[in-house]
Amino acid sequence: MSLVVLGSLKGAPGVTTLATCVAYQWPRHRRVALVEADADGGAVAPRFGLHPTQPSLVSFAAVSRHGMSETEFWSACQRLPDGPAVLVAAGGESTGAALEQIDFGALHRSLPDTDLLVDAGRFRASKPAARLRQQADVVVVVLPPCFESLAVLLDRAGGLSERAPLLAVVAGDGPYPVAEIDAALRQTTGDRAWVLGSVAADARGAAGLASDTGRVRALRRSLLARSTRVVTDLLAHLSSAGVPRPDAA
Ligand SMILES: Nc1ncnc2c1ncn2[C@@H]1O[C@H](COP(=O)(O)OP(=O)(O)O)[C@@H](O)[C@H]1O
Ligand SMILES: [Mg+2]
Repeated sequence: MSLVVLGSLKGAPGVTTLATCVAYQWPRHRRVALVEADADGGAVAPRFGLHPTQPSLVSFAAVSRHGMSETEFWSACQRLPDGPAVLVAAGGESTGAALEQIDFGALHRSLPDTDLLVDAGRFRASKPAARLRQQADVVVVVLPPCFESLAVLLDRAGGLSERAPLLAVVAGDGPYPVAEIDAALRQTTGDRAWVLGSVAADARGAAGLASDTGRVRALRRSLLARSTRVVTDLLAHLSSAGVPRPDAA
């Protein structure tokens, strides 16, 4: 199954919101886990009423020091309310150290029947972040359709699509049409990167997803969830069909 790594290049365009919504919408017949692999993270536990550290990415790093085990991974996961498994991270130094230690490729291989959705936060140039992206089957970058974000994306798209296809999700409103972003990405990378879809600007839906009382409604009816559904279906399809790695094409 697939290792899908999601992140951003600038600002807070809604990676965690997208990743959690996609995790909720992931096809029921497939086993999935969301992993918060973000040293600036710490968002999932408070938003979904989970314990920030017990268990977490940090406790998982400690028990997997001498090798990955499927049982230990599932024991380190909590569950999103009425949703899929999630490995949370509180953020900060301990999360940073855990990220340096965990070999996501080995984790992925130890979970052959599971799709892993990894919220990597900001795509940094650091070694552990680059190693994580290198193990991915698909890299998803979330960005608003504005010039500054597009300029950074086009600058980094070649590097980010070296090992796996880079799929952009355009979040919210802005002056650049999605078709133009898609064309620019394809041209810059020689078709190794393209736009997967767009997610509507919906502050109410995003807030609802992160609230105990608004979650069910947000997941069923919000514009955010409805627009994310298209992204989820495409991602799930690519994950099961297998996406050719650019270097193998
Ligand atoms: N599609 C969206 N429309 C409007 N607001 C959003 C959307 N996605 C996220 N948000 C809001 O933006 C803020 C940052 O979202 P978050 O998902 O934490 O971003 P990131 O993980 O990229 O830092 C949150 O307040 C969230 O509710
Ligand atoms: Mg985040």
